[in-house]
Amino acid sequence: MPLMSWKDVYSVKVAEFDEHHKQLISMINNLDEAMKQGKGKDIVGEILTKLVKYTAFHFAAEQKVMQQQNYSGYDEHKDKHDKMTAKVMALQNDYHAGKASLTIEVFKFLTDWLNKHILETDKKYSEYLNSKGIK
Ligand SMILES: [Fe+2]
Ligand SMILES: [Fe+2]
Repeated sequence: MPLMSWKDVYSVKVAEFDEHHKQLISMINNLDEAMKQGKGKDIVGEILTKLVKYTAFHFAAEQKVMQQQNYSGYDEHKDKHDKMTAKVMALQNDYHAGKASLTIEVFKFLTDWLNKHILETDKKYSEYLNSKGIK
């Protein structure tokens, strides 16, 4: 069973970003699957690297649109992205350095992180961006 599944409630009403979020969910599931299947550190590390890269790509895409549209919540939103990026990069570094393993707590962190950020922060831009024709 996947760790996390896409639900309509996650929709931020911007098709491009919904697609990104679906990708992120699927990447977290892939990571979870690889761990459960007892895949080696190299494979797990690769998936983790892809997740970190995709996260950076997605955050940059959201920030670009928010900035272009003069969204008033930009600074606060970017700050949340920066903090999340720092955490996930620290996790990745520790993993590669052999200082951390991907435990249940790590997956809880990743799923809570995505869940909370989409539902509480991303969704705040929906109405504004839609009013600017971004859907
Ligand atoms: Fe965001
Ligand atoms: Fe997002």
